[in-house]
Amino acid sequence: MPSQSVRSRIVGTGAYAPERVVTNFDLAKLVDTSDEWITERTGIKERRFVADGQAASDLAYEASTRALDAAKLKPADLDMIIVGTISSDMRLPACAAFLQQKLGAGPIPSFDLGAACAGFVYSLSVADQFMRTGAMKAVLVVGTEVLSRITNFTDRNTCVLFGDGAGAVVLQRAEEGEAGVLSTSLHTDSSLATSLMVPAGGSLEPLTHESLNTQRDKIYMNGQDIFKVAVRNLTSASRFAISAAGLETTGIQWVVPHQANLRIIAQVSQRLTIPMERFIINIERYGNTSSASIPMALDEGVRDGRIKPGDTVLMCALGAGVSWASALIRM
Ligand code: UT7
Repeated sequence: MPSQSVRSRIVGTGAYAPERVVTNFDLAKLVDTSDEWITERTGIKERRFVADGQAASDLAYEASTRALDAAKLKPADLDMIIVGTISSDMRLPACAAFLQQKLGAGPIPSFDLGAACAGFVYSLSVADQFMRTGAMKAVLVVGTEVLSRITNFTDRNTCVLFGDGAGAVVLQRAEEGEAGVLSTSLHTDSSLATSLMVPAGGSLEPLTHESLNTQRDKIYMNGQDIFKVAVRNLTSASRFAISAAGLETTGIQWVVPHQANLRIIAQVSQRLTIPMERFIINIERYGNTSSASIPMALDEGVRDGRIKPGDTVLMCALGAGVSWASALIRM
């Protein structure tokens, strides 16, 4: 989806990670694992977990106020809120409704978008379409997750991977100049739909004592299936977004990938022939925060000065569905 004349532009970023740090050593007290295995196989050293009573919309609120401050905008200036999440405060209503309430925004359209780890890039693309039609002038796009509440802490295959956090961006219309969302690319292939899932708690398998006892209300993943498809599809979607914008990989200053596994990122780097030094990586401190990982890493790169105005930034993410997406942005 290459952009037409009126683009949307990121005018503010924000992120928030809850205070509680959980190290690999902490998890080695719960399951048969080690700091060495987790570090070597994933790149993760620690992650953050929420406090009791802290929900996805609380993390989203912190990230969003920071993004709005950076954009020098107020909640009342927003035309729409889109929240990518798979760990909303409640099954009903949407996390975006709670976020709207906490921000004190007006009665603007506010909804969640369920594309798992690709949720932020999907949301960004949807927001961009609304901006290009002229329907919206300012949109808040958020990725927020409290994965610690849907993690099975008896399953070493998954419990060492996930963390909690939120990231947000504010988009405004860029009437002139070069900056903005240059292209996005969205995909879903359901052939591996059951390789990454939370089986119980939905309409197919409502919660029962049995499903709670067997933790079927928590994340299940066939890691190897997802790993292979992640490397392949993140590479192809990235190439698609780059060529749709009429660019080459040499024109990309920074890649902000979904932070699921450092080995996946390294293989994508190799296939795209973009060196790892040009990837913004913080997986060692936050683990896999699903839809929050890209806006958190983007905010880090912007705030520490690595990502500068005018830089071209590639984002790519893949998760349950499997759904994957990429976006090319000029800051
Ligand atoms: O964000 C959504 C998308 N998600 C992803 O992209 C994740 C993709 N998958 C992965 O990142 C990797 O597959 C994992 C990190 C999940 C697993 O790494 P792996 O190198 O694929 O390990 P594996 O599943 O092939 O397991 C290798 C061995 C097994 O033992 P045996 O059967 O060889 O004896 C596992 O039981 O490692 C064992 N193992 C562990 N050992 C210590 C699995 N988890 C652990 C653990 N600690 N935490």
